[in-house]
Amino acid sequence: MDRSRNGRSAVTPTPSQAQANGSEPQRARQRAFCIAALPDGEDLSELEELLRTAGVAVVGEMVQRRELPHPNTYLGPGKVEEAKAAAKAADANVIACDDELSARQERNLEEALGLPVVDRTTVILDIFASHAGSAEGKLQVELAQLEYNLARMRGLWTHLERLGGGIGTRGPGETQIETDRRLARDRIAALRRRLEHVKGTRAVQRAERERAALPTIALVGYTNAGKSTLLNALTGSEVGVRDRLFHTLDPTTRTLKLGGRPYLMSDTVGFISKLPHQLVDAFGATLEETRRAELLAHVLDGSAPEEQRAIMQHAVEQTLEEIGAGERPRLLVLNKLDLLDADARVELRLRHPDAVLVSAATGEGLQELGERLERELLHTLRPVHLLVPYADGGSLAELHEIAGEVSRENTAEGVRVDAMVPARLAERFARFAVAS
Ligand code: GTP
Repeated sequence: MDRSRNGRSAVTPTPSQAQANGSEPQRARQRAFCIAALPDGEDLSELEELLRTAGVAVVGEMVQRRELPHPNTYLGPGKVEEAKAAAKAADANVIACDDELSARQERNLEEALGLPVVDRTTVILDIFASHAGSAEGKLQVELAQLEYNLARMRGLWTHLERLGGGIGTRGPGETQIETDRRLARDRIAALRRRLEHVKGTRAVQRAERERAALPTIALVGYTNAGKSTLLNALTGSEVGVRDRLFHTLDPTTRTLKLGGRPYLMSDTVGFISKLPHQLVDAFGATLEETRRAELLAHVLDGSAPEEQRAIMQHAVEQTLEEIGAGERPRLLVLNKLDLLDADARVELRLRHPDAVLVSAATGEGLQELGERLERELLHTLRPVHLLVPYADGGSLAELHEIAGEVSRENTAEGVRVDAMVPARLAERFARFAVAS
């Protein structure tokens, strides 16, 4: 796992923690024991998937059924003792908690369990840190990590303040915390400045794309649904694909030809439920792409069991609502069809009559997907009737580029053209417009 410059690494014990636990300082393999306080019906599968993505083995788990976590120790005191024995028996070297912990809960748990404790937010931040591709993504994630850590230092600080009890009792620990906080704040200010600069660059790139003004399809979906694979299959591009959550952190936009006409297709970061709010900023670029897209292709893993599929679909729809993209036109794409037998396919088709069934891996269904996308995007096009003088060959070439097939006829004054062009581009040809 990555260790950010000032952030903590999620699951690598610090040397002092390792010594305190009597474990070897640099263990090759991280073995997590997962704990959770959950209401009935929820399980730890998502945390385990996150840990797997972070390269951590899960060696055991303990769930306490309770409506609310314990305010001091997250699990109830008796359960903490049980967890300690179980984690030891499983030879775990880190405890992973399914929720975001307060500084106090984390500290108390570490003391009681004798092992470093990481919470869900820290694990997710760590994964994002190692997957951030662009300069902006990296800065955003580091900022999110620092802000998360700063908030927890503040928690610790309150605790020490209470211990200190007034003027003249400043201890070394307190001074260290003040220094750490100041350094963290300085770094946060510097990161914010650099981000502003990088955002400026992104605005320039966007302006360039806007000049192209092609209708955009954004691939959205739960993490690991197969969005990057689908983008590659449809556009022949090489976006990194790995069987890991969150492989795509930055939006990757490619050109896609449908019916001879170019569109843009963007890959977006995988959605998950309970996304830490510190990361909403880190999603900035992706969210923007999604909000601005003419069509959202919601990719869902069709091979997942029905119940899990419903959870993933719901998580994505909820996230789309939250980011203000809930109203965008949407097409459901059920992927990984190759993993299903004939019966399962019929079942899936019955459950989702409006969806397109595909396999990004084998190419099955991609032609139908192309046709459906084209149909859904028809509303972004507008008919134009033009007379382009022969001297304006450049405009004619551009029209061919963006409109694919056009009907044309040479006349004495120039070329008469009837074409469908993206609505946002129609303006560009207004000077050649004639009655139909
Ligand atoms: P994030 O970036 O985490 O959001 O993932 P993603 O949705 O972009 O998924 P990605 O394309 O990285 O694919 C995830 C895994 O599913 C990879 O191991 C792919 O090889 C696999 N996969 C994708 N499409 C298919 C498919 O049609 N069939 C099968 N069998 N596997 C697939």
